[in-house]
Amino acid sequence: MILAGGFATRLRPLSCTRPKTLFPIVNKPLLQWIFERLARDGVNEAVLAVNQLTEFYIKQHRIPRSGITVRYSHDPPKRPLGTAGPVKHAERLLGHEPFLVLNGDIFADISYKELMDVHVKTGAWATLSLCEVEDPSRYGVAEITKSGRIKQFTEKPPKGTEPSNLINAGVYVLNPEVLQFIPEGRAVSMEREIFPKLATDRKLYGHIVHGLWMDIGKPEEYLQTNRILLDTISVKRKRKDTSRFESKNPVALDEGVSIGDESIIGPYAVLGKNVTIGKKAQITDSVVFPETRIGDSAWINGAIIGEGAVIGDNVRIGKGCIIADHAKIMKGISLNDGTAVCPAKEVS
Ligand code: GTP
Repeated sequence: MILAGGFATRLRPLSCTRPKTLFPIVNKPLLQWIFERLARDGVNEAVLAVNQLTEFYIKQHRIPRSGITVRYSHDPPKRPLGTAGPVKHAERLLGHEPFLVLNGDIFADISYKELMDVHVKTGAWATLSLCEVEDPSRYGVAEITKSGRIKQFTEKPPKGTEPSNLINAGVYVLNPEVLQFIPEGRAVSMEREIFPKLATDRKLYGHIVHGLWMDIGKPEEYLQTNRILLDTISVKRKRKDTSRFESKNPVALDEGVSIGDESIIGPYAVLGKNVTIGKKAQITDSVVFPETRIGDSAWINGAIIGEGAVIGDNVRIGKGCIIADHAKIMKGISLNDGTAVCPAKEVS
């Protein structure tokens, strides 16, 4: 089960027109990365827990599914069910065996097979993948015994009171028995209501994972995920453009990208399909979604630019700026760091 029906408020205004799970990570939607990783471990069926709008966007994107059969389970209209409610709601689609639950906003290279094996071996009702992080206070923190049982699970404990550095990676296995603890018909939080109860009942286990793990929930985390992936994977060139621009690696340029002479691209620039860049522009540490046009001598550093946006000549866009889909920033404008521009808005 993949949870993909949240509101992604922290990624607004980009998330007004795209669910988090469709945010491109180095030019590939996160959900596509998730399908590919699941398929590698032999998963062939997935239930996507969505709301109506998320389902619309996911279908519209026509993501390759790596052979996985996808079914949708909808939260009731205008009544989001939280992180546990959608699992209960999809009960009849989930069968009678342990199943995986993934947060749809996590980029993780976790062996699902190994996680499932550990789950079966310990006889747990729920087994969480646990990651070690420096600052656990923003996550769900687990205190575990030598045998891997989680003694205590606390969601977002106040800084300094965390019992360990091990956090819930947003990937876990549940037994169908757990569904009896999830009340029906209302929003229920897996992290605040269900995991603490399972820990008290000694049914909750953890499995420490060491692979790549990133949460894209906040703009800075989203950019960081792209940066890490750019450093990790070798990106194939999908360009035939022969203009004379300077490329400072790592960069990722998707199909149809065109860049004017004397522009400087990178380091850490991701340009989506059919993005066009004028002459003498500079794009650093930024992600530009597909079909966006950027003018001559534009300067973009540390920003996320949505799909189909138009950025005029000599525009300056600095750190933490988020320009939503189809927004237009007119010639010569300079945006303060951290500025957010709503979808289709014109800034003149
Ligand atoms: P913020 O509003 O920025 O906190 O994001 P969010 O609520 O969308 O994400 P959060 O990190 O809290 O949730 C973890 C995962 O659960 C994400 O993949 C969400 O899409 C998903 N999720 C959160 N709430 C719901 C819900 O009410 N229904 C469904 N179906 N999925 C949800």
